[in-house]
Amino acid sequence: MTRWYRERKREHFYKAAKKEGYHSRAAYKLKQIQSRFHIIRKGDVVVDLGAAPGGWSQVAKELVGKKGLLIAVDIQPIKPIDGIVFIKGDMTKNETIEKIKNKINGRKINVVISDMSPNISGNYSMDHANSIWLSENALGFAKKFLKNNGNFVCKVFDGELLRDLLEKVKDCFEIVKLHSPPASRKSSSEIYVVAKKFKKQEEVAVEE
Ligand SMILES: C[S@@+](CC[C@H](N)C(=O)[O-])C[C@H]1O[C@@H](n2cnc3c(N)ncnc32)[C@H](O)[C@@H]1O
Repeated sequence: MTRWYRERKREHFYKAAKKEGYHSRAAYKLKQIQSRFHIIRKGDVVVDLGAAPGGWSQVAKELVGKKGLLIAVDIQPIKPIDGIVFIKGDMTKNETIEKIKNKINGRKINVVISDMSPNISGNYSMDHANSIWLSENALGFAKKFLKNNGNFVCKVFDGELLRDLLEKVKDCFEIVKLHSPPASRKSSSEIYVVAKKFKKQEEVAVEE
């Protein structure tokens, strides 16, 4: 793909997002993931990790509808979105997880989506490792709170540690795919892990 074409494609999604009122062109990545993998359903409880500026949350809220619940989490603030719950916090911190727990109020989560990106240092190995670390946190959260048969999507920067992460995802989901939505820049190293049908691990009772 030529640079000219890449720029046109980027501009296309940027203009579309502006026209349709989405906070970011990333909204189209989630739309494309959804149309291919059908991860979110009406009425679902969805947690969106790394939600700012909010494109994914807008799309996910449309998908879950009025009966669903969308909880968006980010270190950065987002402009208000009708009908969603926003938690400002670092999802790798316990205090943020506690806030999410309070908001879901005993309900189980159907879908965890994470588009979290680390601060880019320019050192690819470091950025890759940080991205994997965020993904492992998102996976840890999903394993703790997802319903049986729930779904999980998370962005990672491709690299040598991805295989290990995939093995961990495969251990707890029946279907696991790697996917690059067309709205991702071709030059980008980002790739999405799409996992369906969480196999809830039995909690082992420990005898005193
Ligand atoms: C690419 S943006 C997400 C774009 C978003 N999906 C959208 O549609 O607008 C990545 C986000 O991850 C957030 N992030 C990075 N580390 C985080 C963490 N530990 N906890 C919560 N959010 C985090 C960043 O603040 C940033 O807003």
